[in-house]
Amino acid sequence: MTVQQLQEEIRRLKKETGAVILAHSYQTPDILEIADHTGDSYKLSTVAAELSENLVVMCGVRFMAEAIKMLSPEKTVILPVAEATCPMAEQISPQRVREYKKAHPETCIVAYINTTAALKAECDVCVTSSSALQIVRNIEQTDILFIPDRNLGSYVKENVPEKNIILWDGCCPVHDAITAEDCERAKALHPKAKLLMHPEIPAEALQYADVVGSTAAILQYALNSGEECIIGTENAILDYLKLQRPEGKFYPLSKGLLCPDMKLTTLMDVYRALKGEGGEKIELSEELRLKAKRPIDEMIRLGQ
Ligand code: 13P
Ligand code: SF4
Repeated sequence: MTVQQLQEEIRRLKKETGAVILAHSYQTPDILEIADHTGDSYKLSTVAAELSENLVVMCGVRFMAEAIKMLSPEKTVILPVAEATCPMAEQISPQRVREYKKAHPETCIVAYINTTAALKAECDVCVTSSSALQIVRNIEQTDILFIPDRNLGSYVKENVPEKNIILWDGCCPVHDAITAEDCERAKALHPKAKLLMHPEIPAEALQYADVVGSTAAILQYALNSGEECIIGTENAILDYLKLQRPEGKFYPLSKGLLCPDMKLTTLMDVYRALKGEGGEKIELSEELRLKAKRPIDEMIRLGQ
């Protein structure tokens, strides 16, 4: 089957099964084309809370499919490739968080949404890269343990100085690999371009950014500003930008900005998931679901 034929089959199966397909912006363009909703982690979690369809296929990584199941327990949620996980999601154990809480009961535990359900269950509030500043500002407590991403955490710490933020030593291996030299090289190659960077990038490189923002904020700036842009996040969004604005001038910050887990899902995996022949049906015990949902509800409340 050609890509187009497979996409047609997927669209037909979607109608037949009444399914909805969600895809994170880091998925490949052939998948973004057949998705009903695309976007960053925050957008996907808000969309998930309002879906009417009973079958959801989440093209992305495991924590995203888990978050949908938490918000919509009555729905069947399929992750097309069971091995698609975010390496950051388990960089601190639930046991370690429990111990920290016991020793520091006044501290608010803030978890990046890129965490497992078991980890979220031990935390107080979730944040995404697009909502982190606003949510941390709105938290009542002054003392905050921010897990697991030290880079997003230090970006928040710098921008919300009124809070006492303690960082954990985790990171996204893809964004963490960006260096100051990468930024200098890209700026020298494209002197007129604005440098747009994701806050999962380390501070020593982030200082070169003209704009710091989540995937959605980067897309929005690149599409609407009319500027030449160097894209400092997963390179998949360059394909999307070129499709949306073929005349636009967009350059990668580094050719290495590719998330292997986000690239595991193929059209064939989505097709098999819709046929009921592949992927993993996400199951969470009701006890775990309710515990893990609390910090997501809190994120939605504090983000309003
Ligand atoms: P956002 O979707 O919040 O921009 O996060 C990027 C990411 O790495 C998702 O895994
Ligand atoms: Fe995880 Fe980084 Fe991949 Fe996002 S880009 S899924 S944070 S490894």
